[in-house]
Amino acid sequence: QTIYRKDYAAPNYLADTVEMGFDLDPADTRVATRLTMTRNPAAKGRELVLFGEELELVALRLNGKTLSQDKGDFRIAAGVLTIPTAPASVELEIETLIHPDRNTSLMGLYVSNGNFFTQCEAEGFRKITYFPDRPDVMARFTVMLRADKARYPVLLSNGNLIEEGALPDGRHYAKWEDPFKKPSYLFALVAGQLVCQEETVRLHSGRDALLQVWVEEGNLDKTQHAMDSLKNSIDWDVERFGLDLDLERFMIVAVGDFNMGAMENKGLNIFNTKFVLANPRIATDVDFANIEAVVGHEYFHNWTGNRVTCRDWFQLSLKEGLTVFRDQEFSADMIGSDSGRAVKRIDDVRVLRQAQFPEDAGPMAHPVRPDSYVEINNFYTVTVYEKGAEVVRMYQTLLGREGFRKGMDLYFERHDGQAVTCDDFRAAMADANGRDLSQFERWYSQAGTPLLQAAADYDAKRKTLTLTLEQSCPATPGQKKKQPFHIPVAVGLLDAQGRDLALTLEGEKKAGATTRVLELTKAKQSFRFINVDQKPVPSLLRGFSAPVVLQFDYSDAELAFLMAHDSDAFNRWEAGQRLATRRLLNLTVAVQAARQSGHVVAVDTVLNNLQHDGALADALRATLQDESLDPAFRELVLTLPSETMIAEQMEVIDPHAIHVARQFLRRSLARELRDELLAVYRSHQTPGAYSPDAASAGRRALKNVALSYLAELDDEEAMALARQQDEDANNMTDRLAALSAILNSAAPGKSEALQRFYTEFEQEALVIDKWFTLQATARNADVNTVRTLTEHPAFTLKNPNRARSLIFSFCNGNPSAFHALDGNGYAFWAEQVIALNGSNPQVAARLARSLDRWRKYTPALQEKMRLALQQVAGTPKLSRDVAEVITKALAD
Ligand code: ARG
Ligand code: ZN
Repeated sequence: QTIYRKDYAAPNYLADTVEMGFDLDPADTRVATRLTMTRNPAAKGRELVLFGEELELVALRLNGKTLSQDKGDFRIAAGVLTIPTAPASVELEIETLIHPDRNTSLMGLYVSNGNFFTQCEAEGFRKITYFPDRPDVMARFTVMLRADKARYPVLLSNGNLIEEGALPDGRHYAKWEDPFKKPSYLFALVAGQLVCQEETVRLHSGRDALLQVWVEEGNLDKTQHAMDSLKNSIDWDVERFGLDLDLERFMIVAVGDFNMGAMENKGLNIFNTKFVLANPRIATDVDFANIEAVVGHEYFHNWTGNRVTCRDWFQLSLKEGLTVFRDQEFSADMIGSDSGRAVKRIDDVRVLRQAQFPEDAGPMAHPVRPDSYVEINNFYTVTVYEKGAEVVRMYQTLLGREGFRKGMDLYFERHDGQAVTCDDFRAAMADANGRDLSQFERWYSQAGTPLLQAAADYDAKRKTLTLTLEQSCPATPGQKKKQPFHIPVAVGLLDAQGRDLALTLEGEKKAGATTRVLELTKAKQSFRFINVDQKPVPSLLRGFSAPVVLQFDYSDAELAFLMAHDSDAFNRWEAGQRLATRRLLNLTVAVQAARQSGHVVAVDTVLNNLQHDGALADALRATLQDESLDPAFRELVLTLPSETMIAEQMEVIDPHAIHVARQFLRRSLARELRDELLAVYRSHQTPGAYSPDAASAGRRALKNVALSYLAELDDEEAMALARQQDEDANNMTDRLAALSAILNSAAPGKSEALQRFYTEFEQEALVIDKWFTLQATARNADVNTVRTLTEHPAFTLKNPNRARSLIFSFCNGNPSAFHALDGNGYAFWAEQVIALNGSNPQVAARLARSLDRWRKYTPALQEKMRLALQQVAGTPKLSRDVAEVITKALAD
């Protein structure tokens, strides 16, 4: 059933202390919990409510007296244990029995490769014991772990280790105490055969802290980068926000089976191995950057999430949007340079557009602070995370860095130790800066991506430029009409030489900065700039100052001009993307027309005849050769919008036409820029020892995008380079780029290269994931390729990373093959969703979302997708997770 935000009620009882004892055993783990609670004066109800799922209740005592269900002391229904009457102050003792080795959902306590791990956010703690498992109930935890010493030598939980020792029968124990009150979702335990890299660091406060990165034996050669990232995170949070580590011990543990990226359990962060383990041999530049970001993200949660947490799960973005914003800023600061910051910004906006804009336009669209959900795990979304981060970024854009910092300081001053709401955060930002941010609330309550239409009117006589901004927002499920948003629009004006003008708004005495943040609050508003001597080219929404779609009627020439001159690197890149998108959409229409005329063979001829504007190729050539530009930035400019991005621009999506068009454009660009690409390839080698720093990574990225273009040509020289790189590479980035070039060319030797790679990395799960992904997304892959790979001995649906590497990569990352006309891609999707539904509903529901946009496709494809959706909908024992996604997709 559906849970509504408006139904929030404070808990009837508040917790004070929790003592837990675990007798760890994979088949039967006994959990004893002693919980002290007091009636909440602020609550209306009297009942004492505990949540529990998949538990065997062994005993329940209240203030020493055993309660009996038969006598009506309590009742259990649909995962809720209710004690109808209880005194104002209670001590509850609860004993449960659980079965970690049968837990395939990876929520609660589970076993991975023989070791124990937990994942409690959002509602996993209730799979460990009956508990008031909601984030506004916070308590001080003491945890006693007992287990066989040989099998489980390491026993970890939150906080400080206060005691450990031996027990009879080869068992041992460890007792942990967390000095901070916390909600149950931040509880964690880890037990097993693990080793760690550790280091004691002096904190800003002068205290010392022990930092540890725990991994399975044999992986200690892959922990240095995570450790470095952790230390950098600690320093950065002090530097930027004045927030220091509040613990004596901070642990990171890597686990191979994990539903998401990582988890910020107090003092005991648990990570997907993908976001911890790295060395040059197994990890790419992107992996290194992701690890830094995720280590930062989880560490930053210690303040934004743990010290101040969420009142209820509708407020999830309070901690996630804010913490993503913080990790984005951290990564940008780690790169340091302005151009590096811009590259990071472009990367983040790409993710937003590629994943969040479609979500905002589809059946699962929801506001940053949702109004309802069926399964909260379905709302750990790009909207809550990435759009939420954009919302936080807009505060900083509106208030300035200093104003934002003041707001943060006030937020912690007011709310440290509390469970609060997004409104509380907004109030802190407003009050600290003496501003009225009430309209800004709509960013939290209204779903959908706003459309911002801009028009510029130059008056040569008066020397004014009038910029008219008009906003609207499409309807989303449950929200037909939208009210205007408070949108910060950063603008600049370029003169004919491409220089920024100092901007003066009408009514101002002096010229101000070259970039001005206009605040659009109405549906339509005009802004007049004065003293504009000649007709300028506007640079709008600089730095992507708001998560909107901007429409402005640029000519091709103006876009090429902005690409060459805009001082705002984001918009420089943006202009190139607009130019390429325009070209790709034209080509797509041409492919469709050629196909319709029946001249299948003529498609290429038709396209070739279209090939004469040259503006894009010239602009790309100029960028490619501009040595003053950061190589990482040049790589971004050279990368064409993805097929998914193009699809989102079309009224009716035709994935095959898009694919043909994009491939055609890549090939013709490769032909036109061949010499320049070769030269760049040769001049951007990174000889010597590997380093993942941003500058070296940028050189590799540019070199490798050049290689991928060259591989389109299938000429001997290009393929020789790829084969040489495949032989010589001393790092995973170059190795993978070479293999990808070979795999996506028409050259022979594909299976040999794949085999060589497999044999070399067979023991490295994270690399084998890449091997699967490469094949699932290869140009010649189809559903049969992927089906065959599901039979490979190394494939298993049970491991989320492996499932994602093959199945998700195919369904989300190979659109033209997935959307095969025969509908076999959808049949495969349905099979896999159904299979996953039985073992891991959370991962199943993620895969279920691959058909979100089905109503946008051609009628023939729509029909086949509807059948596949209905097949899943009709499956017996459908989990709440999958049912919510499918029901919403099919709803009209
Ligand atoms: N709070 C974690 C993070 O963003 C994500 C955990 C989500 N887990 C889940 N099962 N929904 O860092
Ligand atoms: Zn998070």
